Amino acid sequence: MKDIKENKTVKQLIDKLEKQKMLTKDEWVQVFTGWTEDDRGYAAQKARQISEAVFGKKVYIRGIVEFSNVCRNDCYYCGIRCSNSNANRYRLTDEEILSCCDEGYGYGFRTFVLQSGEDIKAFSPERVAEIVRRIKKAHPDCAVTLSLGELERDALVLLKQAGVDRYLLRHETANKEHYRKLHPEDMSFEHRMKCLETIKELGYQTGAGMMIGSPYQTAQCLADDMVFLGSFKPHMIGIGPFLPHKDTPFRDEPKGDYELTLFVLSLCRIMLPRVLLPATTALGTIRPNGREQGVLSGANVIMPNLSPTEVRKKYMLYDGKICTEDQSSECRLCVQARMKRIGYEVEISRGDYK
Ligand code: 5AD
Ligand code: FES
Repeated sequence: MKDIKENKTVKQLIDKLEKQKMLTKDEWVQVFTGWTEDDRGYAAQKARQISEAVFGKKVYIRGIVEFSNVCRNDCYYCGIRCSNSNANRYRLTDEEILSCCDEGYGYGFRTFVLQSGEDIKAFSPERVAEIVRRIKKAHPDCAVTLSLGELERDALVLLKQAGVDRYLLRHETANKEHYRKLHPEDMSFEHRMKCLETIKELGYQTGAGMMIGSPYQTAQCLADDMVFLGSFKPHMIGIGPFLPHKDTPFRDEPKGDYELTLFVLSLCRIMLPRVLLPATTALGTIRPNGREQGVLSGANVIMPNLSPTEVRKKYMLYDGKICTEDQSSECRLCVQARMKRIGYEVEISRGDYK
């Protein structure tokens, strides 16, 4: 018997995504198994049109302060996993964190992203809340974003009350079997997803996201990610290529595919036109102009590093991370120049989800 079902081409599926803002899981699998460079260009062009219509030729900037690389978790992909005894652990003091923000304010940052490993022992929710109150007091016109990993509901309530605006927690993979291959037994897919739900329910502008090309990721996994993102509708999506770290079990695994990363960025922009979509540091690490290409593929946020130069090399999630020798002022200027070169401008505002 001949199969009479007409399969849509990838371009037709991209058109459908643009109109209906969703695809079925099977359609996503078809996209991720059948796409070509030509399809990627098609998606990038649409994505760029959409982001220019929504945001103009502007990118928002967020200053990231990586305040502790101590982590209780042991994710197989991550360079600051607890069992990496080669990692040189550090914690910034409250004063150091505040002075990074003060410095950043002077460079025009109006969002500060406080990021760390899961270091609850030293950075209790109460302590972080106090830091946030101090930042907000010094800079009432700024947004504060946290990226501290999984927290319990009461901690999230406390931090929201302290004035936190946004929370980033990449889901890492929406496929449970895949999640199990990236994380040890004591981490739970359900807990992570529950945590994301709570974050959104409490009124945070919420960020999810995943790596592209993490070990064992298949077209099915990516399809699950896109179905999840399409229904969860996060306000932000952090996407970058997987990059191996020499002191992890995934040291010999191949990097994620650069072009596929750009393609997924474009698909996210087409599916969720107003989503805040960073051109990530990992994207800038896999290619010298990766972040520029990310913006040209639909990204509209860049997150330069605001951490003290002395600790930057210690916050190594993957090998080769860019900006570890630079000063915050250099990254700020660098990003501005990079954007200008592709005809984009850095926007000085909080850049809330609207
Ligand atoms: N390669 C790329 N991204 C990574 N992350 C962690 N380790 C790696 C790696 N080896 C990402 C994870 C995490 C975010 C802070 O960094 O997605 O959520
Ligand atoms: Fe840090 Fe370019 S952004 S040096």
